[in-house]
Amino acid sequence: MIELQHLTKRYGDTVAVNDLTLRVARGELLVLLGDSGSGKTTTLKMINRLLERTSGSIRVDGRDVADLAPHALRRQIGYAFQEVGLFSHMTIAANIGITPALLGWPDDAIRSRVDELLELVELDADALRHRHPAELSGGQQQRVGVARALAARPQVMLLDEPFGALDPLTRSRLQESFGRIRRELDLTAVFVTHDMVEALLLGDRIAIMRAGRLVQIGTPRTIMRDPADNHVRQLLDTPRREAALVERLLARQT
Ligand SMILES: Nc1ncnc2c1ncn2[C@@H]1O[C@H](COP(=O)(O)OP(=O)(O)OP(=O)(O)O)[C@@H](O)[C@H]1O
Ligand SMILES: [Mg+2]
Repeated sequence: MIELQHLTKRYGDTVAVNDLTLRVARGELLVLLGDSGSGKTTTLKMINRLLERTSGSIRVDGRDVADLAPHALRRQIGYAFQEVGLFSHMTIAANIGITPALLGWPDDAIRSRVDELLELVELDADALRHRHPAELSGGQQQRVGVARALAARPQVMLLDEPFGALDPLTRSRLQESFGRIRRELDLTAVFVTHDMVEALLLGDRIAIMRAGRLVQIGTPRTIMRDPADNHVRQLLDTPRREAALVERLLARQT
């Protein structure tokens, strides 16, 4: 369970996250949606202390994260961030296996877990496990990042546009696999995306942020039915608007 109370992050005069209060129940996946610069990444990074908060509180399973050592916290929480951040000097297998290795898993258990995860994210284990990150495409690196986040079977995950760099078909298959896995692991997760379909597909609830503040939070159905304002309405309507645009463009070409 993740509980944020009056969470605020300031950079000088910029308030990146402004008095954010929300709760993610055990086993729940909360999608964070919002304009670029609205404070989504800052929020995630404060949860596992890649960034320190200015004020407010953050509890994971009832404990204030300030009371936990950052490295212990990050072993317990799986995270995949926008910039991926694979270790360039390590092979793909070593990158994926890093948390299990730190937790003292036996080598053969790590090896089979790495192969299982590569298959899950649809990468060819034999071709890729001994390569280095620079020898992979952006979308492949991103999938390795997701595999690494899942490696130690965490109970809590933070995902920042984990499928953003993928082609639409791979993306929708991985969304489906991820939807299955998170049920199996009974994951508590915060998932940032700009993709409305992804938000509706994976989110138990959706939180919408603007300029560091929480604008609305609720199930996809309640938010769709009763958007807080016109901006939220437009955001939620994007897939339908795009589908209509495609129809119009195709009609024009016949
Ligand atoms: N180190 C920093 N110093 C000053 N301002 C920062 C810093 N990091 C982030 N910000 C500002 O904080 C705000 C929130 O940034 P954040 O990265 O959380 O946005 P975001 O919602 O993740 O956006 P995107 O969708 O583009 O990833 C932005 O206005 C950004 O410019
Ligand atoms: Mg971001």
